[in-house]
Amino acid sequence: MSTPVAASGSVWIQTGPIQRQFPRLEGDVRADFAVIGGGIVGITTALLLREAGASVALLEAGQLARGVTGHTTAKVSSQHGMIYSQLRKRFGRDAARTYGQVNESALEWIAERVQRDAIDCDFRRQSSYAYVTSPSQRSQAEDEAQAAGEAGLPAWLVQTTPLPYGIESAVRFDDQAEFHVRKYLLALVDGLAEDDGCQIFEHTRAVQVDSADSVVRTPGGRVRAGRIVVATHYPFLDRSLAFARVHPQRSYAIVCRIAGAPPEGMFISADSPTRSVRAVPVDGEELLLVGGEGHKTGTGGDTQQRYRRLEEFAREHWDVRSVDYSWSAQDNSTVDGLPYVGKLTPRSDRVLMATGFAKWGMTGGTAAAHLLGDLLLERENASAALFDPNRLNLRASAGELVKENVQVGLRFVGDRVTKRGSRPIEDLRPGEGDIVRVGGEIVAGYRDDLGELSAVSPTCTHLGCRVNWNTAERSWDCPCHGSRFSPAGDVLQGPAVHRLERKPLA
Ligand SMILES: Cc1cc2nc3c(=O)[nH]c(=O)nc-3n(C[C@H](O)[C@H](O)[C@H](O)COP(=O)(O)OP(=O)(O)OC[C@H]3O[C@@H](n4cnc5c(N)ncnc54)[C@H](O)[C@@H]3O)c2cc1C
Ligand code: FES
Repeated sequence: MSTPVAASGSVWIQTGPIQRQFPRLEGDVRADFAVIGGGIVGITTALLLREAGASVALLEAGQLARGVTGHTTAKVSSQHGMIYSQLRKRFGRDAARTYGQVNESALEWIAERVQRDAIDCDFRRQSSYAYVTSPSQRSQAEDEAQAAGEAGLPAWLVQTTPLPYGIESAVRFDDQAEFHVRKYLLALVDGLAEDDGCQIFEHTRAVQVDSADSVVRTPGGRVRAGRIVVATHYPFLDRSLAFARVHPQRSYAIVCRIAGAPPEGMFISADSPTRSVRAVPVDGEELLLVGGEGHKTGTGGDTQQRYRRLEEFAREHWDVRSVDYSWSAQDNSTVDGLPYVGKLTPRSDRVLMATGFAKWGMTGGTAAAHLLGDLLLERENASAALFDPNRLNLRASAGELVKENVQVGLRFVGDRVTKRGSRPIEDLRPGEGDIVRVGGEIVAGYRDDLGELSAVSPTCTHLGCRVNWNTAERSWDCPCHGSRFSPAGDVLQGPAVHRLERKPLA
């Protein structure tokens, strides 16, 4: 198979089980809790609330487990790159220990659930390695091994790995895991679907939440619930101030058929460029997954090159026979590097959120679901303060906060003074999108493979930045907070909840 220059699809979606369909919400319903968003956070939260005896309404804008969760690399590990030395420095030893413990507990909870319910999801134990290749980064690995050990994690400093290329130093975590995320989650969904206490609605986008009377509004109806969880990946409610403190980063993955077996273990480089490696069993064969090429959403340049570079890396180190799956997705980071899990605003007892897993949401999202469950059911949870979205840790976050918001401001202003949009829409080639002109008006124009032109407003319906064309995914991506739209303007990913306005061609 040739070099992927556009996404051919996620291995988890293309090889997963046939998915149950759920109806759109039409009319009004009631539940003890409403959970908005059906990824790993929303599904796990709904399950935990149901198992505690509460009634739940789970709302999903598209289909369950097809958002970021359906486009992950599905390592189930408390090793999150080399995070523990950073956590120790920014937040102190106790915080690093708490972070490690909640992620290890989440890993074990998933392992027990898989075993208890006999979920066939390719779950298997693996060692996880975070490595550096440059001698100048050696001390980083040493610090990390020490910080992770101090946090009570099964961490070892090693000089070799099963990878076919040399490294300078690595931190190995024992007893970690990997799985097929959709086989796992859709098994949990099967349980919820059989349960009268859980109402599930797909193709149902929440467009507003009224905190005062605890109502979720969707185009087809409303959910009245005692309390509400916003598990929409990027919180779409601006009163969370997420737009100032949560930043999405896109990255890419390919899955290849290779001669011989992939290396035993899961791997991630801690120096640049980031490369993530694991094996993926498909129909009895072990394929090789390679990931990386992260960049801020909407600013990736020629995104087709990203797939090419991953394939070049794979070919440099393995005998690649074909590239069978390729996809990209984005995950959010917070300004201080820790997820936000808890009350949406300091005064919103009724609305909670979870976001900011920085590409570690398998354990992070599962841990978040446990914390959300405890907060909703008014149970003690020792990690609540650490993940509180309304924490104020100026020392850890001030620099990032200023940097990110200056960048958003510059994009907002820059969009209005650059010369983009000088060529006419008729110049677009088949498959091309760009900011172009129709008469005197600047539009986001697209010509499909059959030559048909279409145009939408280039102004993101979230907070008004100008969208950019993503060549590999054929989407309009907003550089400010990561909303994404189809060529025709439909919302692919929030925080935007409204489509780009259609523009006439003449
Ligand atoms: C390339 C990549 C690789 C990764 N690899 C790993 C890994 O190896 N290990 C790991 O631990 N983590 C990994 N992650 C991170 C992990 O995949 C994510 O953190 C996690 O899946 C996020 O889950 P979620 O439930 O928050 O979001 P999602 O899965 O996106 O779920 C949110 C859902 O909310 C829905 N929604 C959005 N807005 C609305 C609305 N207004 N109304 C109703 N529904 C709405 C969406 O359609 C979506 O289905 C990776 C991430 C990326 C991008
Ligand atoms: S995503 Fe916020 S302005 Fe576009």
